[in-house]
Amino acid sequence: MPPTQSLTDPQYLRKQYQDASNLNARIRLHREFSTNPYSWQRWLFDHFTFSPGCRVLELGCGPGTLWVENADRIPPDATFLLSDLSEGMVAQAQGALESLFPNFEFQAIDAQEIPISDERFDVVIASHMLYHVPNMEKALSEIRRVLKPGGRLYASTAGRNNLKENRELVTRFDPQLASQIGLSPDSFTLDNGAAQLGTFFATVTQHNYPNALEVTDAQVLTAYLLSGRIHMEGKKKAEFARFVQQALADHCGTFHVTIEGGVFEAVKF
Ligand SMILES: C[S@@+](CC[C@H](N)C(=O)[O-])C[C@H]1O[C@@H](n2cnc3c(N)ncnc32)[C@H](O)[C@@H]1O
Repeated sequence: MPPTQSLTDPQYLRKQYQDASNLNARIRLHREFSTNPYSWQRWLFDHFTFSPGCRVLELGCGPGTLWVENADRIPPDATFLLSDLSEGMVAQAQGALESLFPNFEFQAIDAQEIPISDERFDVVIASHMLYHVPNMEKALSEIRRVLKPGGRLYASTAGRNNLKENRELVTRFDPQLASQIGLSPDSFTLDNGAAQLGTFFATVTQHNYPNALEVTDAQVLTAYLLSGRIHMEGKKKAEFARFVQQALADHCGTFHVTIEGGVFEAVKF
């Protein structure tokens, strides 16, 4: 039986996000096979309100893709602190953005213990990262603490049925792997996020991003499926690659994947 790992396991997170290579395998599948031609990062940015001179904190920034993809519309009068638990991710974001934007700073920060004084930020962004946080109450009270009154948290995440065909595919290959793919029912999702945020924030609004994947490349799908908690080597990995290839063939070369993504906007009272 393979060892099971949770999405909040610090050891898993350290290895998974030591750099952007695993994340890039996942981004590639979305980039190449999304049915929505308007990119997720552009759509997400459309939902932000940046008032003149505002101060913005991003938690779990990863390699800074959100800002790279919206480089043409970053307000020059705002200041941005990009942060991540992983020093490797902070270094990648800094490498990509520092020379372009003098109004960006970078720091390694755990969302559960933000080393910043109260009421410093107008906006906090937490994009597809809160489901990795072991103590959500701690993180949400920290976010609330560093926001000014009336400040906004933008927290994006996935829904319960996100990637459900991927989970079914992996489970058909090996039922013991079922718990190692996708979010668990108690993760921060589009289905339970409003209730979790509602305890800490005055108003919570949800926006959903319409999308799906129509995948036509078995290798890109296999790399995606092996970029998270599932590890395979040698013969088993080759067998899995053939299995994914066959699944595509069984679907006339196009494998449909459900995508549920969206963002909550939560206002501090
Ligand atoms: C799925 S990636 C999302 C990256 C980026 N926000 C994006 O949407 O492309 C999750 C990121 O959250 C970071 N992370 C995980 N736990 C964290 C924590 N407790 N505090 C801050 N960042 C964390 C990881 O290191 C990783 O870079």
